[in-house]
This record gives sequence, structure tokens and C-alpha cells, in this order.
Amino acid sequence: MRSHYCGQINETLIDQTVEVCGWVHNRRDHGGVIFFDLRDRDGVVQVVFDPDTVEAFSLAERVRGEFVLKIKGRVRFRPEGTMNLDMPTGKIEILGKELEVLNACATPPFQVDEHQQVGEDIRLRYRYLDLRRPEMLERFRFRSKLTSAVRRFLDENGFLDVETPILTKATPEGARDYLVPSRTQPGSFFALPQSPQLFKQLLMVSGFDRYYQIAKCFRDEDLRADRQPEFTQIDIEASFVNEEEIMGLTETMIKSLFNEMLDVELPEFPRMTFADAMSRYGSDKPDLRIPLELTDVGDLLLDAKFKIFSASANDPKGRVAALKIPGGNKLTRKEIDGYTKYVSIYGAKGLAYIKVNDHSAGREGLQSPIVKNISDEALQGILDRTAAESGDLIFFGADKAKIVNEALGALRVKVGQDMGMVAEGWAPLWVVDFPMFEELEGGNWHALHHPFTMPSTDIETLEKDPGAALSRAYDMVLNGTELGGGSIRIHDAEMQRSVLKALNIGEEEAQDKFGFLLDALNYGCPPHGGLAFGLDRLIMLMTNAQSIRDVIAFPKTQTASCVMTAAPSTVDPKQLREVGIKLRQQPTEEKAGSSDADKKAE
Ligand code: AMO
Ligand code: AMP
Repeated sequence: MRSHYCGQINETLIDQTVEVCGWVHNRRDHGGVIFFDLRDRDGVVQVVFDPDTVEAFSLAERVRGEFVLKIKGRVRFRPEGTMNLDMPTGKIEILGKELEVLNACATPPFQVDEHQQVGEDIRLRYRYLDLRRPEMLERFRFRSKLTSAVRRFLDENGFLDVETPILTKATPEGARDYLVPSRTQPGSFFALPQSPQLFKQLLMVSGFDRYYQIAKCFRDEDLRADRQPEFTQIDIEASFVNEEEIMGLTETMIKSLFNEMLDVELPEFPRMTFADAMSRYGSDKPDLRIPLELTDVGDLLLDAKFKIFSASANDPKGRVAALKIPGGNKLTRKEIDGYTKYVSIYGAKGLAYIKVNDHSAGREGLQSPIVKNISDEALQGILDRTAAESGDLIFFGADKAKIVNEALGALRVKVGQDMGMVAEGWAPLWVVDFPMFEELEGGNWHALHHPFTMPSTDIETLEKDPGAALSRAYDMVLNGTELGGGSIRIHDAEMQRSVLKALNIGEEEAQDKFGFLLDALNYGCPPHGGLAFGLDRLIMLMTNAQSIRDVIAFPKTQTASCVMTAAPSTVDPKQLREVGIKLRQQPTEEKAGSSDADKKAE
């Protein structure tokens, strides 16, 4: 239908007749002459109709914003003084000769270039209009180019692209499953895969040697800016490899993507143990662009009169940590109260602080609600260890280690952002030496990565003290986001049984849930390992988007619903009968994605 995309029209086409198709970006009536900016995927071009072309002109008078047009006309220079050099097509315009209205457009709920004036609810409801924004399109162009580059890299490195089932059995990645009822076996359910984990391991048993897939994963979990219920992984697995080989290959892949897509040379990725990351940053995905660190001070406070500190210092599961903020003594009472409220989200019961007004003046130079209950010796110890100077502020967290880490870890990032301490650029790293298990409330163990990850110890040591075992897992972290995670897997049936046993999964349950894997491990399973990247997260970071919703064409809201299609929705009673389901609870009136519910979840 067209000879050129709008964005391709330039001065090389002067005096030629062209045909373009697109949407009316805007329309201006200038004393008898009508101007359109016509927009398509490639850009915007100005079209002019004057009354000499009678038929086209009278049609043009009736055209409104977002109408879909086909225009034939002659390319000419814009008159002197009306050129727009900021626009790729800004030197020229098309003098319209013929106009065909391919489709009209109802008054849109928002103008494409005025999206900021409406809430995200409206934009998601009319997502196809929101996606007309050039900035959105750019992100999807980027995404498409990036997945091609990923495929090229993995193809060149001998990986086979293999699809794995969507209708499958639960794969434990730590979230709830999305279930699909079976019609042919009423009362039975498929689970949508939380990842292709077990299938990719089975492909290694088959001898495929190197597998990848750009795979959809489904997890019913609490959503955040970097989590969607349905997301995409770059999923990778290889046989006869150790962690160095997998980490080396995937690091090279990420570096080459940054180089190709953004012209950025990433530095060598440093390695940090999980223990170090928690102790220094309170997080297993530290944002190394922020130059603030936690310091342990519990040993200085074992006898402190301030009971909150001494109790946590004496609790084997407790932690007392300090977070020094250089230049922080200018924080106001109100700001400190704000941070106290912020850490309470993470369960912190308070946020003690010391303002170091004059380091040389000893106790007198400190301003704080707690120093009166801390000995001179302990105060000196804290100042020395944190290397605090006049003008600084030290925050404290005292509680179970988990709470202190989460609270001060999040505070570190928040204060770093508020005080403009986040360095420009990219700070990647590998986090390694994760514990194999984490203790849940009630004393049960939970696999920190997943239960198919190889422990770093032998079976005997593992069974004696599961809490002390480390695993052969690794995470890639970039600017405080967990970009990917993986591990060397268990390829030995006995070790797999032992790990499942530690997780309190009995023989029978193990056979029922993972019998197919346990069987396969008996049929010549090679040593193998792999990793999966969150593709949406990678693109979010690379395009500097605020949320992964911005890089997914049709994302879900915070309440895991789609406001455009109104999914999830009720189904016909007949459909329920067919799959043998009787509802225990009638559906609520609340529509999918109501903004109130979303606000609470945000
Ligand atoms: P894991 O659960 O760590 O590992 O997931 C791998 C990566 O997927 C991304 N990711 C998500 N992205 C968006 N929304 C979500 N809800 C979401 N959940 C996870 C993250 C994460 O690093 N099978 C293992 C991988 C392996 O061992 O090879 C797995 O799925 O970026
Ligand atoms: P209180 O004795 O409860 O008035 O607390 C004195 C100071 O200690 C206040 O600044 C509190 O915010 C702070 N605080 C209370 N509990 C904790 C805690 N668990 N960790 C760190 N600071 C705390």
C-alpha cells in the first residue's frame, strides 16, 4: 500500500511522488491550509493539503487525531524558516495530492503524547494506544534486537533451542503454581511451569549437551516493580561443566549484549560470597553503585544498658549493625522519622541513630537518643569501626539478623538514592557460596536456590548439619537487581534423595512429585549445570525503564490481572462442569485490576 515509511522521507526524495500510510499524530488548520503529522512505526512526516486539491482537501477537513490514512503526494522542502532540524524529516514535507481514510478513530481516552496525564490503569486498559508512543515502541524494538542477539550468541556457542511443556507438573521455584484443570481426568490439574528447570535437566540426561530457551515462566507470587506473574527467562543448561565454565560463558554473553546493544564495556564481574554480601550490604543483591556499608557492632554492645541492643547482641540469631551516612548529620528530625517509618515495613521496631557533630569532643560531640545507655568504650569502638567523622550520622538496627539485614539493606539503598550517592554506570557482580538451606519459622528447611542444586558438601556432612551446608549456586546481580541465578545440579540419585529428605519431603512424596527425575538420575545422568536470566529485568535495566511492566507488551497489574481483557474472569458453569469443578466461593463483584486494590499492593 505504501512506497515508504513516514520516517524514511527525507531530502533525497525531493520532487518524487511517495505513498505513506499511518496515524494522524496531530492536525493543524492554518488559514485554508491543513497540516498533518502522519506517524507510523518509523517516525513522523508532515503532510500539507491546500484547497487546490479540492477532493483531498475536503476530506482532510474531516480528518481527526489518530485517523488511519493513506496519502499520496510530492516531497518538497519546507519553506525557509519553518524547517525543524530536531526532526529527522524536519527539512521536508509532503504536498498531499490524494487522501484515503483507511479508518476513523473514536476520540481516544488520552492523546498518545499526553499519556502522563492519565493513570496507569487507563493506559493498561487501552494498552494498544499506550504502545503507540514512540518511546514504548523503542523498548520493544530493543527487546526484539536483544533476543536476536541472545539467540545468535547461544547458537554460535553450540546451544540448541528446545521448547519444553507449558502444561506440566509443579516445579518448585518457591512461588505458588498456576493450576489448569484437566477435562480428561476430572479432579486432576496441570501446573504451569515456574521455570523449565526439570525439563532442561532431563535434556542433559538425553545427551543434548547444551540447551537454551527463551521461556515463559509462571509464578503466583506477590508482585513488585521487577516481578510479573508471567515473565520470560533466558534459560540455559549445559553438561560436563563446572561453575567457572557456566559463569564464564554467561558473563561473556551479558558483556557482549551490553557492548552490542549499548556500546558499553562492562568491567570484570567481581565475586562476593553470600555471607559477605549480607554482612556488608544486608542483601544478596547489593547495589554496588552506592558507597554505604553495614558494620557489625554487636560484640561492642554485649553489656550495653540499652537492652534492645544487648539482647540482640547476645542472641545467636540476632544482629546489631551500624550504617554510617557520611554528611548525614544534616538530616532533620522529620527525615529521620520518615526513615524510621520506612524500615518498619521490613519489621524493624525502631531506628536508633547517633549524629556525630564534633568527633573530637567525645560523648559531648554526639547527639542521639541512645548514647546515655552506651559506655564510653563502646561508643569509641563504634566510631572507630565505622570510621565516622564530624558531620556524619550512624543508623543502627538491632533485631534478628534477617530483620536487620532487610531493614538496613533497604535503608542503605533508600538513603543512597535520596542523598544522590548512586554512582553513574553499571555495577555487576556474582554472588556465590549461598547456603544450601534457609531455616523457616517452625524449624523446617527451605532450599535457598532450588532442591536440585548441588550442595558443596558430601551427603554425610549435609545430613549432619544442613544449616551449615553451602551450595554450588551463583547469582548475577546488576545495579541491585538479581538478573539471573543458577547452579551446578545434583546428578546423583542418592544425593537428590538426601536433599529432599532434608527438606522434609518423604520417600513417597518425593516419588510422587519428582519420581520422573529420580528415575532419570538412575539412567546415566551427566554432571551438569546452568542458569536463567530474567529477560524482562535485563531489558528494564538496559532501557532504564522504571518497571518490567514497561518492557512487556501486555503486562498484568499489581493484583495479577489484565485490565484490558478483564482476565482473570468467571467462566461458564458448563465449562466448570466439564472439568469437574464446583466453586466453594462465588466470585466477588470486584473487577479485575481495580485501582484501589492495586494501590494497596504497590
Ligand atoms: P530463579 O527463580 O532465580 O531461577 O529465576 C531466574 C531469574 O528469573 C527472573 N525472575 C523473574 N522475573 C520477573 N518476574 C518474576 N516473577 C521473576 N521471578 C524470577 C530473575 C531471576 O534471577 N530454574 C532456575 C534457574 C536455574 O537454576 O537455572 C530459576 O528459575 O531475574
Ligand atoms: P526507645 O527506647 O524505644 O525509645 O528507643 C530509643 C531509640 O532506639 C529510638 O531512636 C528507636 O527508634 C530506636 N530503636 C528501638 N528499637 C530498635 C531496634 N530494634 N533497632 C534499632 N533501633 C531501635
